[in-house]
Amino acid sequence: MKIPHIPVLKDEIVELFSEIEDGYIVDCTVGYGGHSEALLQHNQNIKLICIDRDKEAIAFSKKRLEPFRDRVKFIHARASDSLSSLRGYDIRAILADIGVSSLQLDKTQRGFGFESDRLDMRMDQSSMLDAKKVVNEYSQSDLERIFREYGEMRDAKRVAHLIVKERFKKSFESSKELSSFFAKHIKSRKLHPATLPFQAIRIEVNDEIGELKSLLNAIEDLRLSNSLIAIISFHSLEDRVVKNYFREWAKSCICPSDAIRCSCGGNHAKGKIVTKKPIIPTGREIEQNPRSRSSKLRVFRFEQNKRS
Ligand SMILES: C[S@@+](CC[C@H](N)C(=O)[O-])C[C@H]1O[C@@H](n2cnc3c(N)ncnc32)[C@H](O)[C@@H]1O
Repeated sequence: MKIPHIPVLKDEIVELFSEIEDGYIVDCTVGYGGHSEALLQHNQNIKLICIDRDKEAIAFSKKRLEPFRDRVKFIHARASDSLSSLRGYDIRAILADIGVSSLQLDKTQRGFGFESDRLDMRMDQSSMLDAKKVVNEYSQSDLERIFREYGEMRDAKRVAHLIVKERFKKSFESSKELSSFFAKHIKSRKLHPATLPFQAIRIEVNDEIGELKSLLNAIEDLRLSNSLIAIISFHSLEDRVVKNYFREWAKSCICPSDAIRCSCGGNHAKGKIVTKKPIIPTGREIEQNPRSRSSKLRVFRFEQNKRS
């Protein structure tokens, strides 16, 4: 079986979850099953609930994890939508390795790559919004907003204007066409000129930031105790969201910031931040898998009897 994706920070995840001896681990983004397989191998008595919004990923992982079939349950859905159905399970850890998989990036039919004949970029192929709609139908100001917010592009306004001007003549039909358009109009020394606008369009198409927030809210609503939450992100915007949620969860005092003294009881912390600084891949991992270079792992531990 050819595996289309190398899991990032796999050893770190296995080490982190090695204390878990039974119960369930939820892998919110099973992808091609790399993390799940390693966890099933290392923790002999645990069970996994494997979620992905991409049907193709679920089908692949089902085959890959067949040797562990009695210990795995699969769910094809957005992770934030499915977590509430898992109340009642003895969940000891939750893992989310958000972002795109190598297969999604490399398989030209999925329309994520610069050379694709399609302009798609949907992780869930049944969702209504695709890259073609974003590029050809979004207003200039919305294009500018996503380029600025999700691509952190300084020339967001100029690029949005150029797209609107171009599509007036002819709509964009493929990623190939779009990436050569960016190559013509954007100067970039380190990255391919289409990297940032493609990233911005992909984040918009899949509502990646909104989904991450919903996922963290859904995790909070589970009111777990004695459970580890591990989130791997690939973008500073996502990492910031995770960091801020963890900070809120760890706060003992929830009084307004201008309160003179604490009147809330000061016992509201839901648990502790395990990683004061995010865990990042070693130089060796980056060498072996350059796509791991921007990954950051943050971990939180929900503790017992600390519910507010
Ligand atoms: C980076 S890959 C995960 C790779 C996986 N850890 C492995 O070892 O193969 C990310 C996967 O998460 C899925 N995904 C991203 N956001 C999701 C979400 N909010 N809910 C469910 N699946 C999601 C994507 O479809 C993709 O298959």
